[in-house]
Amino acid sequence: MKLRRAVITAAGLGTRFLPASKAVPKEMFPVYDKPAIQYVVEEAVAAGIREICIVISADKGAIKQHFGRDRAMELVLAGKGKRQQAGLIRKLAGMARISYVLQREQKGLGHAVLCAERFAGKEAFALLLADDLMYGAANVLTQLDRARRKPDGMALAVEKVSRQMIPSYGIVKIKRGGRGAYDIEDLVEKPRLKDAPSDLGIVGRYILTGEIFKALKRTRPGALGEIQITDALRGYLKDGGNIGAGVFGGTRYDAGDKLGLIKASLEMALRDKMAKGEMRTYLKGLMKKR
Ligand code: UTP
Repeated sequence: MKLRRAVITAAGLGTRFLPASKAVPKEMFPVYDKPAIQYVVEEAVAAGIREICIVISADKGAIKQHFGRDRAMELVLAGKGKRQQAGLIRKLAGMARISYVLQREQKGLGHAVLCAERFAGKEAFALLLADDLMYGAANVLTQLDRARRKPDGMALAVEKVSRQMIPSYGIVKIKRGGRGAYDIEDLVEKPRLKDAPSDLGIVGRYILTGEIFKALKRTRPGALGEIQITDALRGYLKDGGNIGAGVFGGTRYDAGDKLGLIKASLEMALRDKMAKGEMRTYLKGLMKKR
C-alpha cells in the first residue's frame, strides 16, 4: 500500500547547539536558503506523502509559524511587487497537510513517536528525524518502502559508520534475504565498540507500522534514561516481527551538529548554479589563508 503519512520528530532539546538553540529551534537554523526541517518535509512530499505530523516541544512554535499560511505577509509582498516571494511562501504553506503534536517532556525519540500514535493509526507510516538531511539520487522513503520484506513489516535506513561513531548509533546485524534485500536479525542502541554486531548504524528514516506503538508501550527507558526506538524495534523483532534494511548510499548531513550544519550549508550553496562560482573562489581563498 502506498505510504500516506509521515511523522517528523523535532522535539529534542538540541543541547549540542546551545546557546544558539536557546530561543530558536535548531530545526529552524538555515541550511543555505531554507530551514533544515523544510528539506525533511520536502523529502516526505517527494515520496508522495501529503499528511505530516510534526512532534514539537512547547518552545518550538516557530516551526508551526514557518509552515502556516501568512496571508498578511503575502499581501505585503505582492503590494511591493514581490510576486515571486509571495508565491514562494504561499506554496510553502500548501505543500502538505501538516499537524502538530506536543511532546511535553523530553523522554527520548521513542516517546516522541508514541506521541504521534493517534495520527499514525494502524497503517504503515514514515518516520523522519528532523535533523538528518539526506541527499541522494533516489528518494530514501521510496527505497525503504521497497525494502519492507512483508506487507506488514517495517524497514530502517542504515549506513556504514566509522569505528569511533559506533557507540553513538543504533547498530544492526543484518542477513541477506532474496533479491538483494536485507533482513535485520538484531539491533542494539549505542553499543560499546566490542559489543557492536556490525558497523551499520541506523540513520533517521524508518517505515513503521502500528505495531511499533505496542512495542514502545512495553519498552522501559534505556540508554540516557530515554525511551529508545531501537529498544522497541528489538522487542518487536523478538516477538516475531520482520524488519528490512535499506542501505543508504547518498550523502547524509547531521544538521543537529555544528559542523554537520556548516557542511550541509556549504554543499547546498555549491549545488546552486548562481552561488557556486563565488563560493568556490571564496573557499579556495580561505584555504590559502589557513
Ligand atoms: P537527538 O539525539 O538529535 O537529540 O534526537 P536532541 O535532543 O534533538 O539534540 P541534542 O543531542 O541534545 O543536541 C534525535 C531526534 O529525536 C528527536 C529530535 O528532535 C531528533 O529529531 N527527539 C529526541 C524528540 O523529538 N524528543 C526527544 O525527547 C528526544
